[in-house]
Amino acid sequence: MAVLGVAIIGCGFAGNFHSNAWIKVNGVDIRLKAAVDNDLSRANALKEKWNYEYASADYDKVLADPEVDIIDIALPPLLHLPFAYKALEAGKHVICDKPLTGYFGTEEDEKPVGDKVPKRKMYESILKDLEECREKVAKSNTLFMYAENYIYSPAIVKAAEILRKKKSYVIYMNAECSVHGSTSPLSKDWNLVGGGSIMRLGSHPIAGVLYLKQVESEVRGYEIRPVSVMADTGRIVKGFPEEAKKHILSKFNDVEDFGHITITFSDGSKAVILSTEHYMGGIQNHINIITNDGVLNCNMTPPDNMKSFFMDEDGLEDVYISENLRCKTGWNSVFVAEETLRGYIGELQAFAEDVAYGRKPESGIDIALETTKIMYAAYVSDEEGRRVNL
Ligand SMILES: NC(=O)c1ccc[n+]([C@@H]2O[C@H](COP(=O)([O-])OP(=O)(O)OC[C@H]3O[C@@H](n4cnc5c(N)ncnc54)[C@H](O)[C@@H]3O)[C@@H](O)[C@H]2O)c1
Repeated sequence: MAVLGVAIIGCGFAGNFHSNAWIKVNGVDIRLKAAVDNDLSRANALKEKWNYEYASADYDKVLADPEVDIIDIALPPLLHLPFAYKALEAGKHVICDKPLTGYFGTEEDEKPVGDKVPKRKMYESILKDLEECREKVAKSNTLFMYAENYIYSPAIVKAAEILRKKKSYVIYMNAECSVHGSTSPLSKDWNLVGGGSIMRLGSHPIAGVLYLKQVESEVRGYEIRPVSVMADTGRIVKGFPEEAKKHILSKFNDVEDFGHITITFSDGSKAVILSTEHYMGGIQNHINIITNDGVLNCNMTPPDNMKSFFMDEDGLEDVYISENLRCKTGWNSVFVAEETLRGYIGELQAFAEDVAYGRKPESGIDIALETTKIMYAAYVSDEEGRRVNL
């Protein structure tokens, strides 16, 4: 079998955990070719840590490298599509992290974008971008893989298997991605991320529920598609007095810190998505599926395979216990095998196999496009106070 050369583009937080997953791929020969970042010191650090063959700040040079087959984009969302398009033009397979893209504002837009630009204008602009993206991907001869880890987490993989076997009818799903504060300095401003908690966090469960309805569509033998969206968002803690902000970790300028979306599907079923930046108990990732013959509660984090209780944090300084929980004392759910349970390992294993065997990705361009459309329809729904038909 041919060896697949990988270049990681963006050597920050996501570039690091993608690299950790690449080295664990089995059954497909992966060659870590290039670590790329416009900050060469970051590229060099990632190269050293994970043994990439070279580090570079020159994306064009990497695209011209015939031994690079896969461009794995772990850049800020604003750069996803321009970098993806160049890779497709160069004949490379593309992996793109979430969210696919967003509305980041134009030079003419009044600032701050999140406060001043009507969401309807954003939605219409995004629809054009998505159409262009669909066409470019359709014209390419390579694969476009959307790095949505929810879809490859063992709980969702198992749920998909059960839905296929039991042929259950999904009645509704409720799903949440919430955190206590952001690790990203980009999270405060609309012009950098294209939105707030819905874009950063809600994009995960939205893609997850779309995938599960895609599975149900295959089982039923007809298409079940999202048809409308109703949403409510808030910038809740902004108005809190200073003394109430002691445990609030992130500062948000023109983005929402709370998002709630109801998606209605063409078969009448619903999915309710919650995404908040202020879950004090630490990161929450789950999808609960209620069907005509059962319930599947798919939990990703916090995991429940190990609990710890500590009176103090002595000796634990360098021990990773849990993401997003600010203290290690008392009772904790220890994040054991997190990269597996959250789907990062399964995701890159599947993408490697997709490329090696020319297989259609489970998480491909359609889910990426639809997720983005739903998020911006949600912003319109919130601003205009009504249901938005897709
Ligand atoms: N799936 C997940 O759970 C998950 C988690 C975190 C982040 N992400 C996604 O990963 C992506 C990156 O986020 P992050 O947290 O790693 O951000 P980050 O800021 O840690 O890393 C981004 C890197 O891109 C580099 N960069 C910026 N502009 C560049 C350019 N023009 N050319 C080359 N390199 C450039 C930066 O120097 C930085 O090293 C985002 O799309 C984010 O949504 C996904």
